[in-house]
Formats: sequence, structure tokens, C-alpha cells
Amino acid sequence: MTRVLLLGGTTEASRLAAAFARDGVEAVFSYAGRTAAPVAQPLPIRVGGFGGAEGLAAWLRAEGISHVVDATHPFAAQMSRNAVAACAATGTALIALERRPWAAAPGDDWTHVADIETAAAALPETPERVFLAIGRQHLAAFAAKPQHHYLLRLVDPPEGALPLPDAEAVISRGPFGYDDDLELLRSRRITRLVTKNAGGEGARAKLDAARTLGLPVIVVDRPALPPRASVETVAEVLAWLHAERGV
Ligand SMILES: NC(=O)c1ccc[n+]([C@@H]2O[C@H](COP(=O)([O-])OP(=O)(O)OC[C@H]3O[C@@H](n4cnc5c(N)ncnc54)[C@H](OP(=O)(O)O)[C@@H]3O)[C@@H](O)[C@H]2O)c1
Repeated sequence: MTRVLLLGGTTEASRLAAAFARDGVEAVFSYAGRTAAPVAQPLPIRVGGFGGAEGLAAWLRAEGISHVVDATHPFAAQMSRNAVAACAATGTALIALERRPWAAAPGDDWTHVADIETAAAALPETPERVFLAIGRQHLAAFAAKPQHHYLLRLVDPPEGALPLPDAEAVISRGPFGYDDDLELLRSRRITRLVTKNAGGEGARAKLDAARTLGLPVIVVDRPALPPRASVETVAEVLAWLHAERGV
């Protein structure tokens, strides 16, 4: 019997959930529980961590899961590593639905860095107005550069004080469009961007807007992951599942 665990938290995962519901695929959708009001899904939902790779392996066995689709964000590396380990331990089929990384185009001024700490170190010493488009989890690294004004874009209002002395938080959930992002950068007189290389369409408008304005961008490259089967589209996941089921 086919029973799928869909690890979510991205637009692509929501699209895949809609396709599973349409095709009558038996599946459970899993959220980490990071946002106050996660997007509703047309599948049964579970929320919260599994308790590491071992907890996930136990959960897969208990729930009779035959296939796992890892459609988490490319920077949710711990979850993805746990999925590889738990699927190997339980003999569960695994595929990742992974967006293609963004690539610089003519006119872009990108500096690539390996991680968030290096991104903070790469900021100049003289004060600037920085759009810090990295979510809320790793803001503290930028306390090392308190001279900058930081513009943040968060899904939920921050709980408690931000770890940055001079910051404005805009509360908004993607997808984001070019005109709005251009207006955001212009109205806040942003001089530089910091972004993770998330890939996909929903968050790339800020990079197009930065190119238009000639702004430099610090791009945090994706964390390394263990080898795993990976595709880029919902259709490819469905084809994989159908092939696995022999239908
Ligand atoms: N990182 C980003 O930039 C980013 C951006 C947009 C959306 N998201 C989404 O936000 C969620 C958390 O991201 P993260 O970067 O904090 O992940 P992470 O660092 O890889 O995960 C940390 C722990 O959170 C739990 N977890 C993560 N994703 C989960 C899921 N879909 N279902 C159940 N438990 C999950 C796991 O806990 P246990 O070890 O206890 O199982 C995991 O070990 C993910 O669903 C991701 O797709 C992340």
C-alpha cells in the first residue's frame, strides 16, 4: 500500500499537496510548526519535529509510510539529512522536490558566501541600509555589524525584541512581485541585499529589483546535503510515485 509523508513548508510542497489530493494519493503533510498560521492543506496535517532521524524512522514505521517526499526549503538542511538517514534505516523510498538555485544574470552584482556568519562578515564597516531577506532564525549573526540599518521581511510579527539595534520588520508572506519589491527597496533607500539562495519564483523578485537599482547582493549558498534522488517539478514527483507503484 502507498502512504506518503510530504515534508512541507514551501510553495512547491503546497502545490504537490494539491496534486496528491486531486489524484487521490494517500499522504500526510508535515509542518515544522514555525509559523503561527501555516497555509491550509487539502491533506491530513501533522505539526512539529519527529525527534531527529531516529524519531522520524520510528514515526515512518508506526505510520506505515512507504514513500517520503522532502519538499522542505533548501536551507532546511537538518530535516533533509534526517530524512535521508531515516529512509535508509527503514528502507523507505525518498525523493526531494528541490528548486533550482538562482544564478546571476548580466547586470547582477553578487558575492557568494558559504553561510550566514560569513554573510555578516562580508558586510562593509561603514553604515549602510541592508535588506536582510533571510527570515528570522539567524538574525543574531548580524548583531556583529550593529552599525547598519536592517530591513527585515517576516511571516509573523517578531516576539520580543529583535537582536539588531536598528531594524524595521515588514510583515508579509510571499510570493512577492517585482513592482512591490522595487518599491520596497526604493522607499527604504536600501543600499545592499543579503539573501539565501532559495531558488524558485516566489522570492526572486527582490533580486530582479536589486539588478534594476544596481545594488550589490550577498548570496548565501545552499548547505551541502547527502546524495539523494531529486527532481525539480511536481509532475516529476508524481511520475516517480506512479513508477514506484508500477501503475
Ligand atoms: N530555512 C529556511 O530558510 C526556510 C525558509 C522557508 C521555509 N522553511 C520551512 O520551515 C521549516 C523549518 O525549517 P528549518 O530551516 O528550521 O529546518 P531544519 O533546520 O532543517 O530543521 C530543524 C528541525 O525542525 C524540524 N522540522 C523541520 N522541517 C520539518 C517538517 N517539514 N516537518 C516536521 N518537522 C520539521 C525537525 O525536527 P526533528 O529533528 O525533531 O524532527 C528538524 O530537525 C521547514 O518546513 C522548511 O521547509 C525554511
